[in-house]
This record gives sequence, C-alpha cells and structure tokens, in this order.
Amino acid sequence: MREGLIRPGMELDLPHTDHGPRDGTPIILLHGFPLDHAMWAVQERALAAAGFRVLAPDLRGLGKGPMAKGPGSMADHARDVLRLAERAGIRRFALAGFSMGGYVAFEVARQAQDRVLGLALVDTRAEPDSEEARKGRRATLEKVRAQGIQPVVDAMLPKMLVAKDHERDVEAMMKRTRPEGAILALEAMRDRRDAFDVLRAFPRPILIVVGEQDPITPPDAARAMAQATKDARLVVVPGAHLTPVESGDAVAEAMVEWGRALR
Ligand code: MLT
Repeated sequence: MREGLIRPGMELDLPHTDHGPRDGTPIILLHGFPLDHAMWAVQERALAAAGFRVLAPDLRGLGKGPMAKGPGSMADHARDVLRLAERAGIRRFALAGFSMGGYVAFEVARQAQDRVLGLALVDTRAEPDSEEARKGRRATLEKVRAQGIQPVVDAMLPKMLVAKDHERDVEAMMKRTRPEGAILALEAMRDRRDAFDVLRAFPRPILIVVGEQDPITPPDAARAMAQATKDARLVVVPGAHLTPVESGDAVAEAMVEWGRALR
C-alpha cells in the first residue's frame, strides 16, 4: 500500500510471524518501542512448543511495519491488531504486550474485550503519561526530527538491560527504527489514555511481569496494575526493562503457565 493512500484512522496490514499449531489457542505478541517482533524470540519458541499458535507482528512505523500518516494513536494500533487477527482467521486470541505493546493491548481490549482471551502485561503500565512525561515526549520528538533515532537509542539502551550479553543485538534493533515511525509511536504513547478502567473490567486471566530493576515501567507500576485487578498473577524477574530478552526463559515460563489458563 502506498503511504500517500493511507488515511488517518485506516487500519493497516502488519507483517508478522505465525508459529505453532494452527489449532492452538492464538496468542498475539506486541512489541515495545523502538523495537520489533524479534524481541519475543524466546517466548515465541516456548509458546509454540507448548502448543499455542503464536503471532508476532511489527507494529505500524516500527520494525518492518507499514508507515502511516500521523499523528499516531493507540486506537490505530489496536485496529491494526484486530485486522491482523481477521486476516489470520482468528476470532478470539490472547494478547501479550511489552511496554508500548501493553498500551496497544489495553486499547484492543477497550475496543473488543470479548475477543481477548487473556492479557500478559510485561514491563508496562496502565497510567497515562503525566504532564512531565508528555513534555519529555515532546522534547524527544523534536530530537528525533532533528537528529534521527540515535538520541533515543542513547537514552534508552542503558535502561533496557542490566547485563551486557544482549546489548549489541538490542542496539541494532533500536537503530533500525525509522525516525518517522518513531515519531508516530511517540505521539501515540504521549496521547494514550488511562487504562485502569480496562484492567478493572477485564474478566479473563491476567499475567503481569516486571523486571526488578526496570527504570522505565518500574515494579510499583506493575503492583498498581495487580492491585487494580481481582486475581492477576504478578511475577518479578531479574533484569531491567527488556525482560523478555534479558530473562527470556523466566518470562516464557510465566507466559506458558498463563496460556494454559486461557479458555
Ligand atoms: C517501550 O519500551 O515500549 C517504551 O519505552 C514505553 C514508554 O516509553 O512509555
């Protein structure tokens, strides 16, 4: 689809991987910013091996996701995810969202709660940006417009991981982000809504995972989400923000267990 033909509010076809048995319970993995679907490699493998059908898209503007006109919004991301499910012939699915992917998952649940079998919320938060955070987003947007993605990489990489093992791969993934796609994502994150209402009303299994040293979406934000729900399972794992990479097996294990509770 040519960018010039894309209207705001129009849903887009997301490129995605699709692993595991066709008749397995579908789980859609939503990545964070400024990353792509590859951040879920360990969980994708574990869930597929456990019998789930696992789809991992690149969101619009990120990874190999299609570019769109701005301003970016979570509502648009959610419509893209619903379209992905329709194209894959899936009516009901569970969602795992890491950080920005969690914000997208909340918006999908807001738009189509009946279709969401469960939520795995990984290093994310339900509250919207504070005034201070919105100011920060605006400053980041300006930097990306002027200098490209590098200032975002410089600011975020030290917060992603405690250990150095995966640093080069994660840095390369971040650096591949197109500046115009980063702008779309930053606008959508800046303008996202409070999601506690979605969380309180969600009637199916919720897993919350957080890195014990996550400086971006810290354990307190995870605990606030857990307290807002009736019976979410909260799992604290070693590491900073990017726990699906840094503590891949522990996150995968918690997700497989959550997946087994989905109906
Ligand atoms: C992410 O990891 O997706 C973002 O850092 C989340 C955010 O900036 O709010």
